[in-house]
Amino acid sequence: MSDFKMSAKPGEVDFPRGLEGVIAGESTKSRVNGQEGKLYYLGIPIQELAEHSTYEETSYLLLHDQLPRQAELDGFTSALATSRQVPMQILEHIEKVGVKDHPMGLLRTAVSMLSAYDPSSEASDQEGMEEEAVKLISQMATITAAIGRVRQGKAPVMPRDDLSHAANFLYMLNGEPPDDYAARVMDVLLILLADHGCNASTFVCIATTSTEADMISSVVAGLSSLKGPLHGGANERAVHMLDEIGDPERARRYVEDALEQKRKVMGFGHRVYKTKDPRATMLQEFIREIAKRGGTEHYLEIAAIVEKTMVDRLGAKGIYPNVDFMSGVVMASLGIETPLFTPIFAVSRVAGWTAHILEQRSDNRIFRPRFIYTGPELGTAYRPAGQRG
Ligand code: CMC
Repeated sequence: MSDFKMSAKPGEVDFPRGLEGVIAGESTKSRVNGQEGKLYYLGIPIQELAEHSTYEETSYLLLHDQLPRQAELDGFTSALATSRQVPMQILEHIEKVGVKDHPMGLLRTAVSMLSAYDPSSEASDQEGMEEEAVKLISQMATITAAIGRVRQGKAPVMPRDDLSHAANFLYMLNGEPPDDYAARVMDVLLILLADHGCNASTFVCIATTSTEADMISSVVAGLSSLKGPLHGGANERAVHMLDEIGDPERARRYVEDALEQKRKVMGFGHRVYKTKDPRATMLQEFIREIAKRGGTEHYLEIAAIVEKTMVDRLGAKGIYPNVDFMSGVVMASLGIETPLFTPIFAVSRVAGWTAHILEQRSDNRIFRPRFIYTGPELGTAYRPAGQRG
């Protein structure tokens, strides 16, 4: 770096904006093949995991780099199930804030509060941090469901430890256990969103933990990043867009107007995928049945025209549907209200975040990139306030 021009005029030095193509480290966790539209966790195609695995098993895979033997899976599942309770003070805070904050803001605050009630939250050894990871994976679902309940004007429902992670989440949200179909749909969604290479929030998590910050702080950083509309916040906005279009007749015009006005169409485009996101393809394979059950079929016709118009117009540029185009429709079909979509993305992604945090800490070096300085001339004199023009 010594011969690199570190002071320059704006735009004078070329660099990869948004760190495009920059290698942030080595990771065993997931591989995104953007040209072919493929995704693997620990080498296993995502389709196989969605078909055969569970969120619990997939989380274990990401955290431990291998599928568990039966006894290991039982132990991990039981650890998740018995960690579900969150301190009353946090539930009270959620009830106090209610709808005053976006659920994603409230989730971020509530997760941050966990450290006040957890004497081991500062653990810095791998075993202690792994225990923190299990608690976070378990409790973020409880917190998110409590936020959903309070938004409906209802009291939080205490978790059960005899249900799967996905089924218990829907139970805590709705106050009654889901049928097997709904539980499986939620489980598949959680599997599909659990990890995705060096995405923005995962990068923020590992950059935060690289300072040796604790597990909760690092996950709170990830939550903050996921909230943005260009990342996790896109699922909520994609469904808002379908609502705004309202009628298939208006879909093509809506997209054309958006492109003309240089507005982003939410749920499309990706830094890595230059073809259709395999997670969007998978969700579309079973969306018709989910939508039929959920009475949300009207979204599908609009979505099909939006997709066709976008691919006609921007497919050549590599702009195709991403997972957020369909994940919101799946959640809406399960009867979940739109503002909870991004928190539910986080309920899944926390498995990937914690896995990458542990991986980073097992061979850590602080992240410390550089900026090219484009400010005023170096050596500019200080002028007292009274002498400034
Ligand atoms: N609608 C319209 N045009 C688009 C879109 C879109 N959704 N996405 C990219 N483009 C255009 C963009 O305007 C640019 O055009 P030009 O070359 O004329 O300036 C070109 O395609 C390249 O886009 P970019 O914004 O430079 O690409 P990026 O790699 O920096 O950003 C992205 C990737 C995902 C942030 C972007 O595609 C986007 O904003 N999409 C909409 C938000 C969204 O759906 N986000 C979810 C991402 S996937 C799941 C997740 O991570 O949460």
